[in-house]
Amino acid sequence: MNNDFYENISVIENPDDLLVLVNKNNKLYEGFIPNNLEVINLNYAVGKKLLRSEAKEAFEKLCESAKKLGYDIKAESTYRDYYYQEKLYNNYVKEYGNIYADNCSARPGHSEHQTGLAIDVRGSIGDYNEFEKTKEFIWMNDNSYKYGFILRYPKGKEHITGFKYEPWHYRYIGGYAKEVHTKKLTLEEYLKKN
Ligand code: DAL
Ligand code: ZN
Repeated sequence: MNNDFYENISVIENPDDLLVLVNKNNKLYEGFIPNNLEVINLNYAVGKKLLRSEAKEAFEKLCESAKKLGYDIKAESTYRDYYYQEKLYNNYVKEYGNIYADNCSARPGHSEHQTGLAIDVRGSIGDYNEFEKTKEFIWMNDNSYKYGFILRYPKGKEHITGFKYEPWHYRYIGGYAKEVHTKKLTLEEYLKKN
């Protein structure tokens, strides 16, 4: 992985922007909470889960279309505040050590789950860790962009995103998703180019 991760960190000035880039070098301030969080329809989430309104609407449409075709997609983790992320990250460190933790969990302020635009999904087999083995995974790969969602941490792009491949983690970017998907870009690459 790139040595510059978690060095030269900028505090994000446009946290409400649809294309906001949150990663190891761009951090949301501690108190940032999106102002239009809404609860996802319980048919499409594991318990009470929040997303920003536009992402919630799009995710429900995605799940509805998928369901009609026989796919069972649910939100497992969505909006997480700074302090919850801090707890998750610290648990990873305690359990697996710093290096492992930094490959798979963002430090507080550095998780795009805090934007309310990111979502971990699960399919018809158990939890999100098994998502890659499901038929829903294949469907999501081909179709999620049509609803504005991109696979945020693809395989082979770890040196750019800073995180291990996560087949379950999607990010809402609305109409920009088509180009990102078609050109097989990460959000980092797309924003650099445009
Ligand atoms: N697992 C992702 C990178 C996060 O913690 O936000
Ligand atoms: Zn995630």
